[in-house]
Amino acid sequence: MTLTGRLLFNLFGTPTRPAVCRAILHKHPHIFYEICSGYCPPTLEGYLTLFHTVIFCNAATAMLAKIYSAAVYGVDAYEVEIEVNGAGGDPNIVIVGLPDAAVRESRDRVTTAIANSGYYWPRGRTTINLAPADIKKEGPSFDLPIALGMIAVTEALDSSPFENFSFVGELALDGTVRAVKGVLPVALEARRRGKRALFVPEANALEAAMVDKIDIYGVQNLRQTFAFLRGETPLLPTRADLTGFFAAHQSYDVDFGDVKGQGHVKRAVEVAVAGGHNVLMVGPPGSGKSMLAKRIPTIIPPLSLEEAIETTKIHSIAGLLDTEKSFVSTRPFRPPHHTISDIGLLGGGAFPNPGEVSLAHNGVLFLDELPEFKRSALEVMRQPLEDGKVTVSRAAGTVTFPSEFMLVAAMNPCPCGYFGDLKRECRCGPAQVQRYRQRVSGPLLDRIDLHIEVPAVEYRDVASERAEETSAAIRERVFRTRQRQQERFRNDPKVNCNARMATRQLKQYCTLTQDSQELIRVAMSELNLSARAYDRILKVSRTIADLDGKTEISPEHVSEAIQYRTFDRTLWV
Ligand SMILES: Nc1ncnc2c1ncn2[C@@H]1O[C@H](COP(=O)(O)OP(=O)(O)OP(=O)(O)O)[C@@H](O)[C@H]1O
Ligand SMILES: [Mg+2]
Repeated sequence: MTLTGRLLFNLFGTPTRPAVCRAILHKHPHIFYEICSGYCPPTLEGYLTLFHTVIFCNAATAMLAKIYSAAVYGVDAYEVEIEVNGAGGDPNIVIVGLPDAAVRESRDRVTTAIANSGYYWPRGRTTINLAPADIKKEGPSFDLPIALGMIAVTEALDSSPFENFSFVGELALDGTVRAVKGVLPVALEARRRGKRALFVPEANALEAAMVDKIDIYGVQNLRQTFAFLRGETPLLPTRADLTGFFAAHQSYDVDFGDVKGQGHVKRAVEVAVAGGHNVLMVGPPGSGKSMLAKRIPTIIPPLSLEEAIETTKIHSIAGLLDTEKSFVSTRPFRPPHHTISDIGLLGGGAFPNPGEVSLAHNGVLFLDELPEFKRSALEVMRQPLEDGKVTVSRAAGTVTFPSEFMLVAAMNPCPCGYFGDLKRECRCGPAQVQRYRQRVSGPLLDRIDLHIEVPAVEYRDVASERAEETSAAIRERVFRTRQRQQERFRNDPKVNCNARMATRQLKQYCTLTQDSQELIRVAMSELNLSARAYDRILKVSRTIADLDGKTEISPEHVSEAIQYRTFDRTLWV
């Protein structure tokens, strides 16, 4: 019962003719409803008192509720203060503070949800302000806090105790709280702001509960939330043990042990991962390129907890998490299809969303059938590849997403796929082959340190019962090599692996012996290697020497690195 209703009941007590009240109160439907449900003034005196009460209550209903929420911007969230002011006058609900269409629409969703949950919303002029007013607000996640604010105003509740809490959730028309995106950054922001509890849709509760030192309540509907806030029903906070969950979910479904034979290809992949180099695999159909690529995340050293939180934040914003997968604890593997748009790859949209390059952050981005990708899509990858982050500018503002990934690309050697195959004949003409390969952009190729030839797998290898080396064993070597690099670059915050060395570090750390220098010189002229191959060969040689546990780069390291430059052998193209 509303304050007004309660007041009337206390004043007049006995039931009487509803028609009297209806006439006076047609402008104040909620009071009318209260009265019609059984309590009306009995006498003229009572009628006059009611009249005064209505005027008095009309002024008194002008009140303000303040509820906190948060919204995602880039990879982080910021707090949003939602003020709901109910005043007398004609019924009208106005939302201010740069709302987008989805937020404006929440007016209709919220009022219907409130009614269907058995509450009332303020029937006069209601102003809902989303502060800070200078950032555009997106999406339906403010439904729940707006609804709570409106009920608090109608019920004339003091909303100050709610200031210790934060709320997010979309409302269905029946009052059910629906899942929203980006709950993890929201929970981190709520904790940073010192909130005691965060109320999220039940489907997002586990994801939010990964953040400790704040109580997370997963709620099913508006009625349950409000009843809990008034102390009418109990609700238990969702608990999740992040460290335990993280430790228990670091295994992969696939393993390098599944790949039979292909020893030299595996070795090349190991070199690439050890030095953080991007790779291109070239081979006929069915040679196992996709199979190998899928297993690359399994040999990268495991995610640290910080890396895992950073990666999960991006997946949370993109809405890729659910109760089954509430936390990203293994390195992501993202294989976008070649028809993907530039926005899908890089990120963007009216309110910038992370693209595949950011979803692959701390993991592997796999571009299968590389020549089929649009040239523009490959060109725009230059910034993320170079800087490890991507900046997306839209009307709503500029957002930077992290995008440090290992690029793994695969392609056939020619349109039919069998160029250079020992068993099957290639049906493509030289011009066709050349055109096909030239579809891969030069600048992108410049950022790929290793080109690996993947030949068709031999029958005896596939049929062999011999146990292959497991991912764990390879990962161990990669881990040691990465440690060596961290030690080397401890004073260079921008460089964390050999692949990221700039000219200065190349000079400092990749000095060659006389023999090695001679070998590169001969290779450059004999194999027709292009000039851009030189730096790449130096970097990869450094990694091979590191894998070998050597400080000095020797000729065998260099000669192995030269093998991984197939595309630079201009004769081959
Ligand atoms: N070395 C291998 N050991 C075991 N199985 C293999 C090996 N190579 C290929 N296969 C089998 O062949 C299948 C096809 O391999 P995959 O899809 O990786 O080939 P691909 O090189 O990506 O071909 P495409 O060019 O058509 O994409 C794999 O699913 C796997 O079952
Ligand atoms: Mg494939």
